[in-house]
Amino acid sequence: TRSPRLVIVSARAPFVRTGSGIVRAPGGLISALLPLMRRSRGTWIATGADREACDTSELPFRVRALALPSEIRSAWYAGASNGALWPLSHGFGEVCRFRAEQARAYFEVCRAAADAAAEYALPGGVVWVHDYQLALVPALLRARRPDLTIGFFWHIPWPASDSLRVLPWASELIEGVLGADLVGLHVPRYVRAFRDALDELGIAYVNDGESIVVPRGARHTRIEAWPIGVDVDGWASLGRDETVAAEAARITADLGGGRVLLSVDRMDYAKGIVERLEAFERLLEQNAEARERVTLVQIGVPSRETVPAYRELRQRIEATVGRIQGRFGGPRRKPVHLFARTFDSTELAAYYLAADAAIVTPKRDGMNLVAFEYVATRPRPNGRLLLSTTAGAADVLTEAHLVNPYDEEGLTSAIEDVALAPETASDIARMAALQARVSQLSVETWASGFLARLEQVTEERVPVR
Ligand code: UDP
Ligand code: G6P
Repeated sequence: TRSPRLVIVSARAPFVRTGSGIVRAPGGLISALLPLMRRSRGTWIATGADREACDTSELPFRVRALALPSEIRSAWYAGASNGALWPLSHGFGEVCRFRAEQARAYFEVCRAAADAAAEYALPGGVVWVHDYQLALVPALLRARRPDLTIGFFWHIPWPASDSLRVLPWASELIEGVLGADLVGLHVPRYVRAFRDALDELGIAYVNDGESIVVPRGARHTRIEAWPIGVDVDGWASLGRDETVAAEAARITADLGGGRVLLSVDRMDYAKGIVERLEAFERLLEQNAEARERVTLVQIGVPSRETVPAYRELRQRIEATVGRIQGRFGGPRRKPVHLFARTFDSTELAAYYLAADAAIVTPKRDGMNLVAFEYVATRPRPNGRLLLSTTAGAADVLTEAHLVNPYDEEGLTSAIEDVALAPETASDIARMAALQARVSQLSVETWASGFLARLEQVTEERVPVR
């Protein structure tokens, strides 16, 4: 994928400045796009970026951080994107707030991004727009530059049509997305939800196997499932690294040598962190062995703290951890460790290696890359992955231990099983099967496959009846 013609557009640029210096920006989208952009010599347009953080880093591609007035940026980011579209798409209707000024800001930021892309894209070039924060960009860009090939990827669940009904600008949103030639979603389930939305809005389409074709005059838009993956070789080589292994051994020893459970999330209500802590607390109440020798490490990256729901969540997480510590901790024993900061991939790899099980139990998640990374890092097929049925990853990583994160007792007993049951041949076979799946779905394959398909779809540019 070496394409100087490529322009990508996203809310985030790869780096941000925090209290502790310049760090990688949070989230799976950056994990996916950074390897792609390192290989290409294209341009990365970022609307929510921190100019200085990107200027100071030496990168093999150009980053264009858009200057936006701070009130607009905040109404777009904390308001329309993360106060409305994010909760709506993750089934948290009661968290949604729809305000006219936020919708205006959303439109304005999308227009600024489309203008920038129109300016930087070479004639006949390819622009790949990412995620729910910028869904109007494809149509706005097409209006300015009909010569371009435009791809769009929606990295979160597509909202159920009942939820979409409450969004005052639902039809603008869909029309915006349909400006692309190819629209990617992670799993077929989300493509079906997209089809429901088309039905709801009375937009005509044709089914083509599992994908959808929407005629748009002289061209058409295809909507397809393109499951994302991780940098499999990168994680595997960290997993084989002697320094990483030594660090993992030190972590296990420091934690007292018992069983280690690991969760890694942004502190987001969709990740089900409080529910997981409560399930772990019930396990400690019920099981003496767990009280003695099971430790939960929760890496919780601070996230979106300008949004009230996120600030409240962080407090609830900290209070819950404190309560568990108070009830079950002792001078030599701390059942839960919460790290409220960002780890780099080498540090994460050591925790992935040290963990006897990864507890990935979001209430809803577009995909969840942590589940893939845990599997990809392990040099041998040991360890267990506990995964929510409500994460996109569950549709792909079918050999994981699956659990419904809303089922309280079910969650407690699933955690108990992955923490304490002796390892069997079936566990090893499951992890080996997961490793094979994760290897097939590398992020490289995802990006090059999507981009190749995008070119192909554009070449088909004939109206579909
Ligand atoms: N991540 C990281 N440092 C951390 C915690 C997470 O680099 O301290 C990365 C992690 O490796 C993964 C991504 O953040 O690639 C999280 O992606 P995921 O799809 O699991 O969730 P998202 O945050 O995108 O909702
Ligand atoms: C999810 C979204 C991304 C977003 C990331 C981090 O992965 O799909 O678009 O960048 O979370 O969230 P943030 O608001 O910090 O960019």
